Amino acid sequence: MFRTRRLRKTDAIRKLVRETSLSVNDFIYPLFIEEGTNIETEIVSMPGIKRFSLDRIAIELDEVVALKIPAVLLFGIPSTKDDEGTETWNENGIMQKAIRFIKQNYPNLYVITDVCFCEYTSHGHCGIIHENDVDNDATLVNIAKQVISHAKAGVDMVAPSGMMDGTIDMIRQSLDNSGFADLPIMAYSVKYASAFYGPFRDAADSAPTFGDRKTYQMDPANREEGLRKATFDDEEGADILMVKPALSYLDIIRDLKNNFDRPIACYNVSGEYAMIKAAAEKGWIDGEKVMMESLLSMKRAGADIIITYFAKEAAKVLNK
Ligand code: PBG
Repeated sequence: MFRTRRLRKTDAIRKLVRETSLSVNDFIYPLFIEEGTNIETEIVSMPGIKRFSLDRIAIELDEVVALKIPAVLLFGIPSTKDDEGTETWNENGIMQKAIRFIKQNYPNLYVITDVCFCEYTSHGHCGIIHENDVDNDATLVNIAKQVISHAKAGVDMVAPSGMMDGTIDMIRQSLDNSGFADLPIMAYSVKYASAFYGPFRDAADSAPTFGDRKTYQMDPANREEGLRKATFDDEEGADILMVKPALSYLDIIRDLKNNFDRPIACYNVSGEYAMIKAAAEKGWIDGEKVMMESLLSMKRAGADIIITYFAKEAAKVLNK
């Protein structure tokens, strides 16, 4: 008889034959930073996650550093919005201030910025609106302005999430021409038009006021299109390719891992976090075990890097 159970008999042999492992080194922790003072607001649909103003963010950053999480991904929530999201390239905007603050006070913490417009535009779309849709090429010009202002503030890596065509090419050229040839890009390469972003849009106040994001984010039914999009980003010079969301798209993570010679990241998004939290609160699942199993599955699927709201909690388990 074929006996597979021999190698499952004790904890020691299970450790020896274990194929995948999670590490705190894999995690990027997202942070919502709101313009203003004295803000520390719990996000109702994301228990444990808060929006902080800069004067309160130190508590959170101290914890991230103590837990040895290597990187944070910043989202800015500005106090003013307009049609184009011009605040995104204000050198005294919330993102730019946050980058400077973190790099000054936590120089070894790796700072990545989400490069987008939806938190900054009055209509909530990820770029400039022309005839009821986002104008791709006009938006690219503003993406370049935003990225250069983050670079000048001292960011370590930029992560454009708006799904405009030509984004990586535009950013690479702008950075190279402005003296930032060493600044890497993590591309939100395969980003689906997903209902799993719901809680994030409350958190970041970024839901579109009309329509949806289906003309720029991808159709969840498509796999080959994902490979095509990742190929463009790869050829345009993205340093890291990302799949988003993660859990319902583990097949896409594996596809990218098998097809590209680049580090692969995945974004374990707000809705995935909220589902586990809600079921655990009800006592229907063991929240900690399901969290660790989910994160492990992303590694097994091929992710080298996991962006996750669970980073602090999972780090506590891993550091035990
Ligand atoms: C901005 C952006 C979104 C997320 C990350 N960057 C929202 C969206 O595309 O609607 C979602 C993150 C999450 O759900 O955790 N474009």
